[in-house]
Amino acid sequence: MTQPRKIIIDTDPGQDDAVALLLALASPELDVLAITVVAGNVPLPLTELNTRKIVELSGRTDVPIYAGCAEPMDRKLVTAEHVHGRTGLDGPTLPDPKIQLQPEHAVDFLIETLRTTPDVTLCPLGPLTNIATALQRAPEIKENIREIVLMGGGFFEGGNITPAAEFNIYVDPTAADIVLRSGIQTTILPLDCTHNALTTAPRVAAFRALPNRAGPAVAELTDFFERYDKEKYGSEGAPLHDPTVIAYLLDPTLFETRHINVTVETKSDLTLGATVADWWRVTDRKPNATWVRNLDADGFFKLLTDRLATLP
Ligand code: RIB
Ligand code: CA
Repeated sequence: MTQPRKIIIDTDPGQDDAVALLLALASPELDVLAITVVAGNVPLPLTELNTRKIVELSGRTDVPIYAGCAEPMDRKLVTAEHVHGRTGLDGPTLPDPKIQLQPEHAVDFLIETLRTTPDVTLCPLGPLTNIATALQRAPEIKENIREIVLMGGGFFEGGNITPAAEFNIYVDPTAADIVLRSGIQTTILPLDCTHNALTTAPRVAAFRALPNRAGPAVAELTDFFERYDKEKYGSEGAPLHDPTVIAYLLDPTLFETRHINVTVETKSDLTLGATVADWWRVTDRKPNATWVRNLDADGFFKLLTDRLATLP
């Protein structure tokens, strides 16, 4: 096997973030250098607590966790308790974690690590505040970032927090703009892709049937998480957004992509946070991102379930 791919996951758990963390921590192809936490689905004190709970559930207490930005770069925090519940991780009852946060701020950690560690892939699963703040304070770290693979945005599917914008981008459009203009190789898993990764009953039953703690816990996470989207979209399951980022690293052949220009709206009240994806290349704007348009959903859920089965 080639050397494991070095990654840092930036996250705002959130049930779907939790499943993404479990998938990454169960996959030996990935060397999870650290997990950095950002405010998003719920405020930072809860996203960091939720991260520690999930890492403890995975058994991978060797992976350090750093808390980062509690507010977006230049606007008030918008949260999503209506989707994720008051705790941000409603569903299973998980014990209070023993593992503690690292003392350093996540942004300081990102800068120090990326100044000296080459070939690192960043995997943002929430608002891009930590990543953009690090890039703004220390632009030289770009040299050591191999790729940014993020969940965010939407074009053919529109938005989910407003008609035009997806939540991660909407919470901090300025941060998203900094990342998209950074020149760093960036791959985007937008709603166009994740809305095809639905937690249907047979797929959740496969999680629940796993003979370990992680499988049933994931089923309880999705049982809670899917109620909102099933009602909203009238679909047979909820889109399992964030784990698609990790699955893309593990098996990119499951995904349909195109290298295009993606520009984010940072000013208009009506469309703030919209990701304008030039899928048909009708502008002369330079391609700056790989946009993931769709996935093999059965292949994705098989990969996810097989990996969850290897956890305690
Ligand atoms: O719009 C979906 C995204 O927003 C996911 O990352 C979810 O966890 C929330 O952060
Ligand atoms: Ca998230």
